[in-house]
Amino acid sequence: MESSFWLNIFCLNIIVALVVVYSVPNTFVANKPCDFPAIFNFGDSNSDTGGLSAAFGQVPPPYGESYFHRPAGRYSDGRLIVDFIAEGLGLPYLSAYLDSVGSNFTHGANFATAGSTIRPQNISLHQGGFSPISLNVQLHQYNDFQHSSQIFRSQGGVFEGLLPKTEDFSRALYTFDIGQNDLWAGYLLNMTMDQIRAYVPDALEQFKTTIKDIYGHGGKSYWIHNTGPIGCLPYVLNSLLPGGDQVDKFGCASPFNEVAQYFNRKLKEIVVQLRKDLPLAAITYVDVYSVKYELISQAKKHGFEHPLRACCGHGGKYNYNKNMECGTKITVDGKQVLVAKSCKDPSVAISWDGVHFTEAANKWVFDQIVDGSFSDPPMPLKMARRKRHNH
Ligand SMILES: *[C@@H]1O[C@H](CO)[C@@H](O)[C@H](O)[C@H]1NC(C)=O
Ligand SMILES: *[C@@H]1O[C@H](CO)[C@@H](O)[C@H](O)[C@H]1NC(C)=O
Ligand SMILES: *[C@@H]1O[C@H](CO)[C@@H](O)[C@H](O)[C@H]1NC(C)=O
Repeated sequence: MESSFWLNIFCLNIIVALVVVYSVPNTFVANKPCDFPAIFNFGDSNSDTGGLSAAFGQVPPPYGESYFHRPAGRYSDGRLIVDFIAEGLGLPYLSAYLDSVGSNFTHGANFATAGSTIRPQNISLHQGGFSPISLNVQLHQYNDFQHSSQIFRSQGGVFEGLLPKTEDFSRALYTFDIGQNDLWAGYLLNMTMDQIRAYVPDALEQFKTTIKDIYGHGGKSYWIHNTGPIGCLPYVLNSLLPGGDQVDKFGCASPFNEVAQYFNRKLKEIVVQLRKDLPLAAITYVDVYSVKYELISQAKKHGFEHPLRACCGHGGKYNYNKNMECGTKITVDGKQVLVAKSCKDPSVAISWDGVHFTEAANKWVFDQIVDGSFSDPPMPLKMARRKRHNH
């Protein structure tokens, strides 16, 4: 098969090089050659490991409580899918590019920020809008990072232990999870679902431009998550007018899920075009939508409870109130009291705060996608660099 041939050639070069260096331990030769040395991630809150926190204020407790035991810049009670991807590849968790304290970029960097969109938005964060660090800005930051990290690394010293090697940019895995906020943005502007659909192609053109730019700078392996069933999330469900919107038999808002599926069909078309345009790229499209929908619609079967209720929130059918989001405190008798707090057992909850998934749900999703069962082509995470068998 062409694909394993390509992989063998790749591994062979490295092994030959290591055999020449006689003293390298065998285990290193056996385990390391085909692994990704770094991850560069782009996206929104689904994969933000501290970007928005560094620039616009920390997420409050009880975020992070289940795993980090403190807020850790992540919009969850613990780890995100991108953290499990890093673990799965034997790499440390990704530092946020914007985080200037304690960061270590030896094995990659994370450009995602919560609230990011593909298309730059015209409503700022302060107006209840979106992160200004849209995908085009993340690309600028990536290019700046690639350029300046190599200047500093060549100076040696402390930078050698903090920045990636030049060759790691072409050997890295480039991961993407973005688009959900582009869909939500139109809804906040009171657009109809048809009006939202109408700008999806423009958003995906901008996505395509980003991948092409990274490829132009040497990136070869791409792992692209499609967008999830936004219509099953408490923050969306809570915004529906009573009786006004269609809800499916699991309680999810069908119009939103249909627009997400439309986005995903178009994303898949873009991926097909990119494979033609970028012959040396290995592009894996991962159907996270189906995995998340399965989890939410069959929650009990998978050991979870109340799939449409936020674990951490305050009040209402979905335990979600946009004016009292997870971590909100109020002052009672001069004392700060946490009113939107965590549920008893986040390990059986799916929605953490009404917008984002719990660590347990993220882990479940990761476990389904890691072996390639939901990928096109059906390659496991570790093999996502293989050349596709192209016919
Ligand atoms: C922002 O405003 C500009 C100028 O009016 C417009 O061209 C662009 O489409 C707007 N962006 C979005 C995401 O609505
Ligand atoms: C950064 O992380 C790498 C890999 O985990 C490690 O080898 C290196 O020592 C770290 N750098 C510093 C300055 O701690
Ligand atoms: C959307 O509609 C709501 C309710 O009619 C209104 O309060 C809000 O200002 C509108 N938003 C925009 C951006 O037009």
